[in-house]
Amino acid sequence: MRRKFVAGNWKMNGSANSIRELLQGIREGAAEVAAVELAVFPSFVYLGLVEQQLSDSSVGWGAQNLSEHASGAHTGEVAGSMLQDFHCDYVIVGHSERRTLYGETDEIVARKFATARKIGLKPILCVGETLQEREQGVTEAVVERQIKAVLDLEGISGFADAVIAYEPVWAIGTGRTATAGQAQEVHAFIRAKLAQLDSALASQVCILYGGSMKAANAAELLAMPDIDGGLIGGASLEAKEFLAIAKAGC
Ligand code: 13P
Repeated sequence: MRRKFVAGNWKMNGSANSIRELLQGIREGAAEVAAVELAVFPSFVYLGLVEQQLSDSSVGWGAQNLSEHASGAHTGEVAGSMLQDFHCDYVIVGHSERRTLYGETDEIVARKFATARKIGLKPILCVGETLQEREQGVTEAVVERQIKAVLDLEGISGFADAVIAYEPVWAIGTGRTATAGQAQEVHAFIRAKLAQLDSALASQVCILYGGSMKAANAAELLAMPDIDGGLIGGASLEAKEFLAIAKAGC
């Protein structure tokens, strides 16, 4: 039985004060949704604050990105080992905003995934199609290509401790959520693709949905057999809303 996982991707939002307040709210409500794993993903600069506030709680944390390199002359980049200094459990790789705004290719994302795993950070691999790709009927081909880049580098065992987040680009920050049926279809496709290589691993792998997920639509999405949780953007910036999404998964 896969445990539900609700993760808050804060993106480039928050301040030290707002984060303290948000974390206090999440901590206060976490016990009520203990059946669900919770984690938050602040900007790098707030990882120390988040660690300080959450280290004695059941809520985990991670970063939104990492460098594919271990160290060296990469101005402005952050190495996985630095994330370990802040005891991150997870790191998001290949978010669509990284792919589209910062030119991260499937190959770069795969290398970041490998870098994270090599040092024991659990990668959350984001995949998903644009609206144009969905309308062209190539959703499955796009998602398969994005996953194949990781499989080519890491093999199926690379997914043993990893998480996949299906985030249709057209649903991110738009208020336009995929229907539960649309999301389930892609989640089942991903699981089936992995099952062709290792069915036991595929049945264990956690596949999150992301894209305008909120308390009002979470129950329907989380009731789907292959949707194991959510990667939440906007709605994770309010403790009450974030916890209500988790509650829907209990
Ligand atoms: P929204 O929930 O704001 O649509 O963002 C989803 C997302 O990109 C999470 O990584």
